[in-house]
Amino acid sequence: MKIRDDVISIGGVPISEIAEKYGTPTYVYDGEKIIKNYQTALNYARKYYSNFDFFYAIKACNNLQIANLLVKNGAGIDAASVNEIYLAKALGLNGNKIMFSGNFLSDEDLKVALESDVLINLDDISLFNRLKKIGLPEIICFRVNPGYGRSNVGEYVTNAGPNAKFGVHPDHVVEAYRLAKQSGIKRFGAHMMPGSCILDADYFHNITEMLIDIILKVALELNINFEFINLGGGLGIPYKNNETPLDIDATMKGISDIIHNFFTDNNLPKPKILMEPARYFVGNAGYIVGKVHAIKNSYSKIIGTDVSMNVLARPAMYDAYHHIYVDQKESDPREKLGLCGQVCENTDFWCKDRDLPETIDVGDLIVVKDAGAYGYSMSYQYNGRLRPAEVLVQNNKTVLIRSREKFKDIIKNMILPYEIQDNVYAILNNL
Ligand code: LLP
Repeated sequence: MKIRDDVISIGGVPISEIAEKYGTPTYVYDGEKIIKNYQTALNYARKYYSNFDFFYAIKACNNLQIANLLVKNGAGIDAASVNEIYLAKALGLNGNKIMFSGNFLSDEDLKVALESDVLINLDDISLFNRLKKIGLPEIICFRVNPGYGRSNVGEYVTNAGPNAKFGVHPDHVVEAYRLAKQSGIKRFGAHMMPGSCILDADYFHNITEMLIDIILKVALELNINFEFINLGGGLGIPYKNNETPLDIDATMKGISDIIHNFFTDNNLPKPKILMEPARYFVGNAGYIVGKVHAIKNSYSKIIGTDVSMNVLARPAMYDAYHHIYVDQKESDPREKLGLCGQVCENTDFWCKDRDLPETIDVGDLIVVKDAGAYGYSMSYQYNGRLRPAEVLVQNNKTVLIRSREKFKDIIKNMILPYEIQDNVYAILNNL
């Protein structure tokens, strides 16, 4: 995103053009930036450890045009559900490029995963016993809860430690692999995903050491080798202007050194390192272009926009911060203002007291920054508000990659009472 003479553009295209062509609110992704983010991480990873691969956690942004940019550049897919396995298959990937890390799975989930021949990452020992009844894969992985995790929004996105629902307790990990080995499995991986959006390289080094300590016991006690170690996602991006970006070079160097030294010192074959980031690849490459529709002067001055909590849930869910820019007005004098969406919930606020251009007015365009991860994929239809369009910008050109929802999308799965069907068709025909 660039601001020149107060005109905001994304990937070289002014947002006024995007708004005119596609309407608002619209998610806009900068394709070149996504590829650059991926290549940067990969280059640093392989600079220190050649056998390093990335799987993209498709839950963060599941548009296949976006995931395809990463897959075409060599990424695998981390799938959280059976439907995400299908998305990964749709991208042309097969077994060892798809990691399935679901939790509290049904037998049907396990069956599909097994039949899909993906890397199965089990969140609990009990899942292994149930999987065994259906059949056994050639290679198995367990998600370890190393006992500690962190996030930039506190407990909300902390995925390890005593309060998390994820992963195998550290004291049960040997048992889990013993069970798998006794059942005849000969190939193993290990996984963890303790937290999200961390900007501190030391964190990644600490959790790597924690996981390694846990799986050392497994390797020595059961005499098994780990083909891969998956350190999860969590590579952070700064959302606030005063935050320092993650030192990706130091992060990757530390991780690689720890794994290299540990396996060499213990005379064990060195595993492939996997990570499955999402936010780091797509977070800062996605924006929402929205519009101001109404301004209220009441107890305070509140700017009402069409970027509501149903479009991007993060502020209402986690109290997360997203920076907001106003097209053509960024160098105007500023005042403390509230800015909200149009949903009938009082959590539908972007900010209550933020410095914004005092000249902001009805019809102005706004840009919500860093909306590429956990944005559209967490959007919903509450209040009859529709999911927005998605647009990809590449080579200074925009392409629609998902249409804006319409009224028909609200009722499409409803089984309508017979006596109102004609009303519904009349409305649909009129739209
Ligand atoms: N791997 C697994 C198993 C995961 O559950 C996740 C994210 C990732 C990888 C990717 O994590 P990342 O690199 O993006 O940190 N909705 C929240 C984030 C939830 C993270 C869920 N798991 C947010 O908007 O901040």
